[in-house]
Amino acid sequence: MVKFKTSISIPKIDWSTHLAALSAAPMNGWATIQNPDPRLEDYTAQIKKNAEVLVVIGVGGSFLGAKALLDAIPRTSKTEIIFAGTSLSPYEMQQTLNYLGNRDFCINVISKSGSTLETNLAFDIFYQKLVQKYGSHADSRIYATTGRGGTLFQMASDRHWSWLEIPDNVGGRYSVLTSVGLLPLAVGGISITDLLTGARNYAAHISSALNYAACRVHLYQQGYFAEAMATFEPELRYFAEWWKQLFGESEGKNKMGLLPTSLVYSTDLHSLGQYIQDGNSQVFETFLEITPVASGMQVVGVRGLEGKDLAEINSSALRATVSAHATVRPVAEILLSDRTATDFGALVYFFFIAASMSAFALGLNPFDQPGVEIYKKNLQKILGLDA
Ligand code: PA5
Repeated sequence: MVKFKTSISIPKIDWSTHLAALSAAPMNGWATIQNPDPRLEDYTAQIKKNAEVLVVIGVGGSFLGAKALLDAIPRTSKTEIIFAGTSLSPYEMQQTLNYLGNRDFCINVISKSGSTLETNLAFDIFYQKLVQKYGSHADSRIYATTGRGGTLFQMASDRHWSWLEIPDNVGGRYSVLTSVGLLPLAVGGISITDLLTGARNYAAHISSALNYAACRVHLYQQGYFAEAMATFEPELRYFAEWWKQLFGESEGKNKMGLLPTSLVYSTDLHSLGQYIQDGNSQVFETFLEITPVASGMQVVGVRGLEGKDLAEINSSALRATVSAHATVRPVAEILLSDRTATDFGALVYFFFIAASMSAFALGLNPFDQPGVEIYKKNLQKILGLDA
């Protein structure tokens, strides 16, 4: 279950026009949760049987959702998932190749367009390693998740790779509940049935997401320029990265939108905590929380805290921080009842609705990202690829 609460008073928004805009939007394919591709079960079983490691290659929306949920949801799988293609750093690439070592592996290359440079270069390098290790059997270890009609789709057809389709009407940052996220998540040991059930159930009751969107829009219109997503759960670090992409690309256009930024406490209480308590007051803070459960780790030797559970102390730190920061800036809280796949399915859908509704309410198209094209064109020019 996902709840939203804040003590600030938020003017009501009539969402009916914006919900109608979503129903009519060509890129609303994520709004109705589809059943997984029937091939996914077989592919998952093959990868688990043949590989110690699945190398997932992709960037942006073709990376962040799977990484976020693999970190956030407790899971068991003998197959390790590692990621490549998120940078062009040769040092990082070499580190990833070294880490993979001589272990048996398969590749899941993910790109809707099939033309993303970071993805294509990382795939090129890992493909060489695959061919060195498996020779003529290399192609049977590739799983391409891509849009029909792009260059990656063409390669997958020509070389008879296993492939999964990214629907035309779902953009990268809204794609984690399609094959983009579902294959790495299933191989990583997450119940995709529970994940999709959580999203589907939440889709029938979206009022908390609409309240969160109304809060964001209200604060933006009051002059706040940034929203900081704060958590006391470090395993949600990448969930916050996913959230940043979702809101940054959906809303940051036409010189508008809140800057999404994130804080992982307690680490950041000892660095950016200073800014949040004392710095520019035009930043509001949203805490992402999971209902605490006793950890069984009890304090023995810290005076005054003997017998207390670590979960209780973490929770006290959260309450102390919320009340300290609420004296200087608006604070909101998003509460997740548990860290199961069902809960995170609901949370993903909560943020999909909130991001698209926030953008529509500001008169923006939530589903394009014209700003990321300019560096790509410059890079093509510098590399001589624009001829
Ligand atoms: O949200 C988006 O559409 C982008 O972040 C893309 O996911 C990202 O640029 C990767 O694109 P592609 O999947 O085409 O390689």
